[in-house]
Amino acid sequence: MDSSAALIVNETLQVSDLPSMVEVCRMAMPMEEITSPILMEKTFGSRGGDAAFQCCCRDEKGALIGFIWAISFETENGRMGGIRLLAVHPKWQRLGIGSSLLKAAESYCWEQSAREISIGATPGNYLVAGVNPLYMNSTCFCESMGYRMSGITQVLSCRLVNLERFDARRDDLLKSGYQLRRAMGWDRRATDEFLSANWKECEEEIEHAFANTPPTISLCLFDNQIVGFVATEANNPGTGVFGPVYVHKDHRRKGVCRVLVAEGLKSLWARGFATSKHPWTTPTLSRFYSDELNATRERIHFIYRRTRVS
Ligand SMILES: CC(C)(COP(=O)(O)OP(=O)(O)OC[C@H]1O[C@@H](n2cnc3c(N)ncnc32)[C@H](O)[C@@H]1OP(=O)(O)O)[C@@H](O)C(=O)NCCC(=O)NCCS
Repeated sequence: MDSSAALIVNETLQVSDLPSMVEVCRMAMPMEEITSPILMEKTFGSRGGDAAFQCCCRDEKGALIGFIWAISFETENGRMGGIRLLAVHPKWQRLGIGSSLLKAAESYCWEQSAREISIGATPGNYLVAGVNPLYMNSTCFCESMGYRMSGITQVLSCRLVNLERFDARRDDLLKSGYQLRRAMGWDRRATDEFLSANWKECEEEIEHAFANTPPTISLCLFDNQIVGFVATEANNPGTGVFGPVYVHKDHRRKGVCRVLVAEGLKSLWARGFATSKHPWTTPTLSRFYSDELNATRERIHFIYRRTRVS
């Protein structure tokens, strides 16, 4: 590869770049499932997409060879930065393109007063929750750019068989006064209010679940008030992703979550999936998923973070 070719970093991505973005990601991350709808959801179609930072690098003929998409977001621990996507075509790696793209995104995150930047693990909308440790380039790159591995997330997988084994539990819950039903478009407002009061971080995923036809979200109600929900296909559409699931703190330890989990699995099965994927599962939840759902571990991801140096 002629590294003296005129590379232009800091160009802006356009929607018309989407097919090239898919191609660059597929070449750079061959183990991930990457489609146009998924990349659209991560970039131009994402919530607050306009407010995000993005830039790319093209070769002298204008062909896309690498890009980055970063966000900054509020958490209960303060403002954070997140690198949602970063990929450089393998033919153009080790030429300094990845580090130029990352430095530009870091400047944006620090300007937004982020305390810390994480790579991959951007809550609410992520391709993978961290960095795939089987990509040596990526882990070496993160470490050389000053990021430190701060934890592990995993993707668990469940075969969607014998789901009727959960029916008795569902019947018991209904007898104790709870109601369960698929959400309809008109439930959006009440669901948004529930999220706003309880779990703002997953608003974007629920927005995606409501955008599916029909909405891929089931509600649990008590006294006609939402007390919990489960969503599916709310992130990385078309891949059988389960979650998020949530139960209001006043209704925990009553078996609501177990029933909602089963509702979510049934919903994926009804949409034609043979297995469900449970991303961003922390190792402490392994036992629950293993005992309850015979889950197997499909992937692990390293979370890389870098703290602001003042
Ligand atoms: C990670 C990635 C974007 C790096 O792109 P890149 O253009 O090759 O990065 P750079 O050339 O700027 O590399 C910067 C430094 O990272 C380190 N590095 C990158 N690849 C490396 C490798 N294979 N082995 C050792 N160190 C490596 C080096 O220190 C390098 O500096 P040097 O070449 O002067 O020694 C690219 O490998 C990629 O697209 N990977 C798959 C996508 C991915 O996983 N993205 C998410 C997580 S980052």
